[in-house]
Amino acid sequence: MPPSPAPRVVLGVSGGIAAYKSCELLRALTESGHHVDVIPTEAALRFVGAATFEALSGNPVTTGVFSDIPSVRHVRLGQQADLIVIAPATADLIARMAAGRADDLLTSTLLATLAPVAIAPAMHTEMWQHPATQANIATLRSRGVTVIGPASGRLTGKDTGPGRMAEPAEIAQLARVLLERRDALPHDLAGTRVLVTAGGTREPLDPVRFLTNRSSGKQGYALVQVAAARGAAVTLISANAALPTPAGVDLVRVETALELQEATVAAAADHDVVVMAAAVSDFRPTERSSSKIKKTAAEPERIALAKNPDILAGLVAEREAGRLPAGLRIVGFAAETGDERYTVEEYGKQKLGRKRCDYLVVNDVGEGGAFESDTNAGLIIGRDGRTTEIPRGSKQLVAAQILDVVTASAGSPSA
Ligand code: CTP
Repeated sequence: MPPSPAPRVVLGVSGGIAAYKSCELLRALTESGHHVDVIPTEAALRFVGAATFEALSGNPVTTGVFSDIPSVRHVRLGQQADLIVIAPATADLIARMAAGRADDLLTSTLLATLAPVAIAPAMHTEMWQHPATQANIATLRSRGVTVIGPASGRLTGKDTGPGRMAEPAEIAQLARVLLERRDALPHDLAGTRVLVTAGGTREPLDPVRFLTNRSSGKQGYALVQVAAARGAAVTLISANAALPTPAGVDLVRVETALELQEATVAAAADHDVVVMAAAVSDFRPTERSSSKIKKTAAEPERIALAKNPDILAGLVAEREAGRLPAGLRIVGFAAETGDERYTVEEYGKQKLGRKRCDYLVVNDVGEGGAFESDTNAGLIIGRDGRTTEIPRGSKQLVAAQILDVVTASAGSPSA
């Protein structure tokens, strides 16, 4: 069988200072095997030259509809595209898109495409919050455009606030999920508040050493990215994950299981869904030395361990006691391997029975495992006995499937 052709992505770049970051996005997309045609606006070329986009994409770059007339470039690029990503998307470009204008190659291509479209807005906070821009964004969302970010942070000059373009790596990850499943990022979670814990807790022995686990935090962060892109208000409680903060989320950083418990219990009541994707150390050293432990003794000292609380089971108990809303959906994660006695699914069902959460996402870590990988697979087991298989895909695609199942029942009182 001939190899399937590389997915074709049109990268639209409009004229804002974040245009320089589109080069990094372009690199990320070409390096993961995509054919990328860059269509800058005239204004974008005042920030980054056409030569840079041509060199990085390996394809010619034009801005107007009057070059290469015989090929009707805008129609061809629009029809052939599997995905159009616009990063950065300025207030002006967003307005022209919302109005359905076709006054340059990029906007003409947008009218000539049936491919999914994602935009990463970048502008000053006032421009982003202006009712005109917000109305245009609402129009684009109603037409199925995915809006990634913006993030809060440093803008041009000394200003900070919402309006900063999402990081190129995050845009590339969300772009790829649209290629895997074009309806993976609908704007269906507006008004839903999602709390995700991610990463792995650290239990210190002394100021330089700790007990931890191999969780990278990638699956939890993917959930956060996808939930935010689908319009949810997202809180991320991150335990030591060395990953960039996804755009537009509230971030709480913790180190230990006890800190994670405190932050999670404090935040849970203000959310509709809690996803415990963090890998929690089951034990912690009973003593935490305030100075570095020296190897002076002939025999090393034994490390005494105390059991950490089960945060997930604790949340369920709080809900059962009426101290958390009855409609709060509680989702656990489990990494399992099957053995001669039970399959991964059977172990998952047993764990769900013990933890009594609403859903358990079970990753089969038998061969190769899910840790640090960019892909994942597994099962979502519901308390109602229903099991949904998650085929192998990017962690963002897995996240989309988890959110599909879990939010279908969000807000209704627990069964
Ligand atoms: N979890 C938790 N608090 C703990 C341990 C785990 O909240 N102290 C949560 C994890 O975030 C995850 C789920 O429980 O959502 C399952 O984690 P796992 O480590 O598989 O559960 P354990 O009860 O530790 O099961 P096992 O005996 O298989 O280690």
